[in-house]
Amino acid sequence: MTEKTKTYCLINYGCQMNESDTEHYAGQLEEMGYAPVDDFHIADVILVNTCCVRESAEKKIAGKIGELKAVKTKNSDVVICVAGCMAQKDGEKLIKKHPQVDLLLGTAYVNDFKQVLQDYLADRKGGAYTDLTIHQSEFEGRMVRQSPFAAWIPIMYGCNNFCTYCIVPYVRGRERSRSVENIVAEIEAAVRDGYKEFTLLGQNVNSYGKDWGETDAFARLLRRVDKIPGVERIHYMTSHPRDMSEEVVKAVAECEHICENFHVPFQAGSSEILRRMNRGYSKEKYLALIDLIRRYVPDAAITTDIIVGFPGETEEDFEETLDVVRRVGFASAFTFIYSKRSGTPAAKMENQVPLPVKKERLNRLMALQNENSLRYHQQLVGKTVEVLAEGPSRQADVWAGRTRTGVLVLWPVEDKKYEAGQKVRVLLDAAQTWLVKGKAVD
Ligand code: 5AD
Ligand code: SF4
Repeated sequence: MTEKTKTYCLINYGCQMNESDTEHYAGQLEEMGYAPVDDFHIADVILVNTCCVRESAEKKIAGKIGELKAVKTKNSDVVICVAGCMAQKDGEKLIKKHPQVDLLLGTAYVNDFKQVLQDYLADRKGGAYTDLTIHQSEFEGRMVRQSPFAAWIPIMYGCNNFCTYCIVPYVRGRERSRSVENIVAEIEAAVRDGYKEFTLLGQNVNSYGKDWGETDAFARLLRRVDKIPGVERIHYMTSHPRDMSEEVVKAVAECEHICENFHVPFQAGSSEILRRMNRGYSKEKYLALIDLIRRYVPDAAITTDIIVGFPGETEEDFEETLDVVRRVGFASAFTFIYSKRSGTPAAKMENQVPLPVKKERLNRLMALQNENSLRYHQQLVGKTVEVLAEGPSRQADVWAGRTRTGVLVLWPVEDKKYEAGQKVRVLLDAAQTWLVKGKAVD
């Protein structure tokens, strides 16, 4: 009789960094001989990779971990792991609350997962691994990427900024940069596997190399990656407006493969709120940075993150946020209601804004930004854009892909055959808030 193949199910929440970590977990599980399944009810190992940036994420994840209780009751052999930011934040507390969880893996243990799991399978002694001082900064080993052509490449871990609303520095530790050689080697290996599009990841990519005392190391890294044969598109996120240098903007302007999209979260328009957020720039400085970007890269797509309802935010402060949104004309924006994160300085600030006020501000902000997004898409109509095909859309006989600046494009297949990662030129003829449509021209 042949032995049944062991299976794993990964459930990911949160940002691109988590998605990247999940690809490393998948790689380690496959090295151990596990095969992926979508249904966690039938998996031998279940890993939930968690986020704690806002309370809403934590609530959703707690519900999912709760669902796993019945799975463990039915099959006590199943291994339940909880990893990522919420695991790091709550530690043993999370296991006490959810005793069905066998292993808890903090954010510094991504590379050690295989060893931790092997040890657990040998003695069935679980527990929490939450030491943040391990300071791992190089990734080795295999990973199983979600996309067949687009790869996440972490270039640094952690954050030193301590924006007063943000939990990230507490759960991901201080900034550690990966070596240029290690990053380049990973990208070259991915190119050999057919990857074309690369997103360099870090909480604050403009600080790359500062932990070794270097300045402008990020701009040099961009130029180095641009020269790797086979690399077709380079993106990076997230930039901090305070640390974004002219050297980086120049690198984007001059390098063929670096896409002309800039994700620069401004968070709030009022300089007083920005000061209390500890962001290190004023409204005027932010707008000056946007001018600099537009001077070097006139057709740049600028995107952002915005928080409404930071403690003490008045209607006048909020108007400043709307003013920035109007003046910059962002191509798109992620908009968030301020969420109180215990342990951060803002959680203790007076004048927390009531939820109905926050919701009303968010609605006004989103309505304004939707107009911007539509306008940005409308000015693309009539142009022919380069699209990397992603796959069939939900509509029959229509494919979807993205432009260099990340705009979603739909076009009819007609009698052609497409594959994921293929470059297609599309003449755009219609614009909506979330996407554009057109016809393939060759
Ligand atoms: N509440 C709301 N949004 C937050 N973000 C970070 N912390 C919070 C919080 N406490 C947002 C910021 C950041 C994005 C990733 O999440 O806008 O840029
Ligand atoms: Fe959080 Fe600010 Fe660091 Fe971004 S830069 S992860 S918002 S502390």
